[in-house]
Amino acid sequence: MSRKGEEHGDVSRGQAIAEQTCLRCHAKFDGDPHPNPDITKAPALASFGQRWPLENLEEALAEGITVSHDQLTMPEFIFTPESIADLLAYLDDLSKQANKAMAN
Ligand code: HEC
Repeated sequence: MSRKGEEHGDVSRGQAIAEQTCLRCHAKFDGDPHPNPDITKAPALASFGQRWPLENLEEALAEGITVSHDQLTMPEFIFTPESIADLLAYLDDLSKQANKAMAN
């Protein structure tokens, strides 16, 4: 089985998806200002790929990622396999940028 997230995902499409769905609450990088000052518990998107394999997120997104967000009223996201691959490609790119920044 191929790893969809890395092979077919499109970073710029993933970024567009993240901007519409995730970046209202999540910052891109640790230390960035929170997009919503009321939501300070949301970890930076770049930190996901630094802390655990992003494939873990694939299933969560496919099932509807409400689990980690049960404290909050938030829309239930409906993702197609393609948009999941795009989003994961973008998150992967963010983690790599964050890792590079840390190495400097
Ligand atoms: C309405 C605000 C909001 C939106 C929109 C949102 N999140 Fe979250 N997210 C949170 C908050 C708050 C937490 C922390 C929850 C906690 O710790 O109880 C969180 C936690 C998470 C976690 C768990 C992180 C960890 O390391 O434990 C993941 C993964 C996640 N979000 C992914 C996403 C993705 C992907 C999107 C876009 C598709 C998204 N979220 C959209 C508010 C949001």
